[in-house]
Amino acid sequence: MVPKRVEAIVMDAGRHPVALGAGALHALDQDVKEAEATAHFILGDENTLRHCLPELLAHAPRLREAETIGVPSGEASKGLAVCQDIWQHLTARAADREALLICLGGGVVTDLGGFIAGAYKRGIRCMHVPTTLMGMVDASIGGKAGIDLGGVKNVVGVFHDPLGVYVHVPFLKSLGKRELLNGVAEMIKHGLVRDASHYEALREAPLHDLAALTPLVARSAAIKAEVVAADPREGGMRKLLNFGHTIGHGIEAYSWESPQRALLHGEAVAMGMICEAWLSWRQGLLPREDSDRIAAHLLSLYKPFALQGDEDHRIIELMRNDKKNSAGQFRFALLTGIGSAQVDAAINAAQVKEALDHYRLLVRG
Ligand SMILES: NC(=O)c1ccc[n+]([C@@H]2O[C@H](COP(=O)([O-])OP(=O)(O)OC[C@H]3O[C@@H](n4cnc5c(N)ncnc54)[C@H](O)[C@@H]3O)[C@@H](O)[C@H]2O)c1
Ligand SMILES: [Zn+2]
Repeated sequence: MVPKRVEAIVMDAGRHPVALGAGALHALDQDVKEAEATAHFILGDENTLRHCLPELLAHAPRLREAETIGVPSGEASKGLAVCQDIWQHLTARAADREALLICLGGGVVTDLGGFIAGAYKRGIRCMHVPTTLMGMVDASIGGKAGIDLGGVKNVVGVFHDPLGVYVHVPFLKSLGKRELLNGVAEMIKHGLVRDASHYEALREAPLHDLAALTPLVARSAAIKAEVVAADPREGGMRKLLNFGHTIGHGIEAYSWESPQRALLHGEAVAMGMICEAWLSWRQGLLPREDSDRIAAHLLSLYKPFALQGDEDHRIIELMRNDKKNSAGQFRFALLTGIGSAQVDAAINAAQVKEALDHYRLLVRG
């Protein structure tokens, strides 16, 4: 039986809409109809095809005839070999320019699927159905898609806007706690750079309770949508979303090399936000008590990661490899308060080292 129709909340992310709420998957079904595609393909990984596909099909019956394409879960699927297999598969099925690809999954699936759709026959249409919190509030919104090459993340990519992004929060039921917190880090970032009341609500909400999380997902998705709508090609304002990411990316890449444990992106960004909130204070932009409060909050959610002092130079080296940093100086998005930020603050390596020292001091207690 098809569940009763409820209207979705639709937000504008500039070049594509984001549908949210109980009616989101019905909206998708309607949009599939209007797209009048010659063929429908659903891309997912083994977890999303198992946990999410039945619910998608229950709400979007027009997709029941679609062909599913499965990839292994994990970042390793975001590579050229997988793209080539799928492009060959689409060709073998005689998929033409009017085919439609529905990407059902976390950021790996929407990045991969967006890229495959963006390049196949110079661009076919796609729709994103995010199934992780990271996907719902960040990865699926804004039209950036790409793959990894030779160990470098997101180095080959395109801007390819989906027809729409359809956010169905109940998909998170099967997502593990660590993956949930991974997405929460980006939500906290949204509050810190744009919306103090969102930040306060996130501090208080029982995050494992999907009913309590739902309006917060909507607010975070709206913030991401608003920022990309104002700056679709990452010229200025979108850089606000880099808060926590300049040092965070260095720590994330460093954790892959370290024997300790590989950090998830959000976990590294949480550490990056502690360091960068502290730098915001050091630059005279943020009261010290705000920096301390943010650090205490993040440390209550994310397990400490031991950083050896003699490894700072490696983290800084990895930060230099990041495509967003120009030679010599790092450009940071820093907080000017809880709920506001500025971009392009110049910070040197010595200051980064001080910020890492600050994190070390905090976790040693
Ligand atoms: N394009 C962008 O703007 C953007 C922004 C942020 C991140 N990203 C990319 O997103 C990727 C990370 O995305 P992610 O954190 O969603 O990881 P992911 O897609 O790898 O998903 C994490 C894990 O959760 C599983 N999973 C997904 N949905 C599930 C569900 N509902 N129930 C149970 N298991 C489920 C997946 O199979 C996977 O094992 C990275 O490659 C990153 O580069 C892109
Ligand atoms: Zn991020």
